[in-house]
Amino acid sequence: MAEKQMNETKGLMGWIDARFPLTSTIKQHMTEYYAPKNFNFWYYFGILATVVFALQILTGIFLTMHYKPSAADAFASVEYIMRDVWGGNYIRYMHSTGASMFFIVVYLHMFRGLIYGSYRNPRELIWLFGVAIFLCLMGEAFFGYLLPWGQMSYWGAQVIVNLFSAIPFIGPDFSEWLRGDYLISDATLNRFFAFHVIALPFVLAGLVAVHLIALHEVGSNNPDGVEIKKKKDPKTGIPLDGIPFHPYYTVKDTVGVVAFFIVFAAIIFYAPDMGGYFLEANNFVPANPLVTPAHIAPVWYFTPYYSILRAVPPILNSQFPGVAMMGLSVMAFAFLPWLDKSPVASIRYRGGLYKKWLAAFVVSFVVLGYLGTVPSNIWGQFSAGMPIIGGADRATVVARIFTVVYFAFFILMPWYTAKDKTKPVPERVTY
Ligand code: HEM
Repeated sequence: MAEKQMNETKGLMGWIDARFPLTSTIKQHMTEYYAPKNFNFWYYFGILATVVFALQILTGIFLTMHYKPSAADAFASVEYIMRDVWGGNYIRYMHSTGASMFFIVVYLHMFRGLIYGSYRNPRELIWLFGVAIFLCLMGEAFFGYLLPWGQMSYWGAQVIVNLFSAIPFIGPDFSEWLRGDYLISDATLNRFFAFHVIALPFVLAGLVAVHLIALHEVGSNNPDGVEIKKKKDPKTGIPLDGIPFHPYYTVKDTVGVVAFFIVFAAIIFYAPDMGGYFLEANNFVPANPLVTPAHIAPVWYFTPYYSILRAVPPILNSQFPGVAMMGLSVMAFAFLPWLDKSPVASIRYRGGLYKKWLAAFVVSFVVLGYLGTVPSNIWGQFSAGMPIIGGADRATVVARIFTVVYFAFFILMPWYTAKDKTKPVPERVTY
């Protein structure tokens, strides 16, 4: 019986293979894709990003079944999902928590790239596709945030779309074109819905696909930054330090995915708004174009860039320098493959200079992130008598200092990576 079944399976696979490269695709990307044997904790975040992406699509489909994209109905339809739709509160919390988890996972995924030099030759394109994914993800989160039509949705969108008006010449027309109106309105909500539900998810899916195709073309980096393709078994041609992705990493990744879901479930069941960081209190108040909230702040994952925006002083009454610096602070990541001049890839073999700069970058990212969540006068002002900075908000001055550190990490990289004292890199991966 078993033999008959096997033959049938073989027969079916044979039938499919004659029409579609199923077996060879599984081999190429799973059972005969040789990944370095020394992947560690940091290598969970790619698969976790994929899982969260799938989860966002799935929960998004169910939310769309009950959500109404119109200024008159949007807020009430979300409340309806929360109170009357069976399991609706969990679906919404999965989606809102999923958004924040997406950024946590992607930030950790990018940080792995920084510590192991995963953006370096020959992985520049994987990295650039990653940066495009990151930009797209920011757009996706921004458009999605308007949809509940709460006070923060409305005023957040108002602030961000207005920023574009600061772009010289085309700015005001561009903002109006983006809004589809002179202010955030029903027309804006409708088009943001279209971007959030159709346009950007498609672009994201395509970018993730090319990200992974590029990865499988050149092969994964690893915590030692050693190219495993350089040492192959002469008979089989298989890298000596490579193991088949399936079953080894499918099993290992399952452990990470289960751990992730434990944390995810804990947040959804016990702290879905995460003290206002994942869902802000002001967004449980319907949008009101006549009442501006006392303090408008974006969700935590945008706050480092928002801080940079606020830190850069206007020139000739124009906010453009701040807007440009904010854009540059994200785009700076794209230049990393060409800024890093170190002879070694992994932090394990780099010297103290890189480690210190990376630590300074992380601290500045976190401090800017915090400052972006609070009003800029939170620590009061420097006394009027102080030279140069007298009268300035203390928090703004701190944000300025950390903005300089943030950019210095990138701008000075060619210098400190070339000068750094590195350790010898082993020929084969270690553990
Ligand atoms: C939707 C978001 C993303 C998904 C689903 C995704 C998926 C993946 C997966 C599955 C891997 C292989 C497993 C791993 O190395 O962890 C990977 C590798 C990689 N990703 Fe992403 N990624 C995303 C975003 C990004 C971003 C934003 C960047 C950087 C800006 C990036 C840069 C990289 C790099 C450089 C590698 C190769 C790492 C290595 O071999 O050491 N990815 N990605």
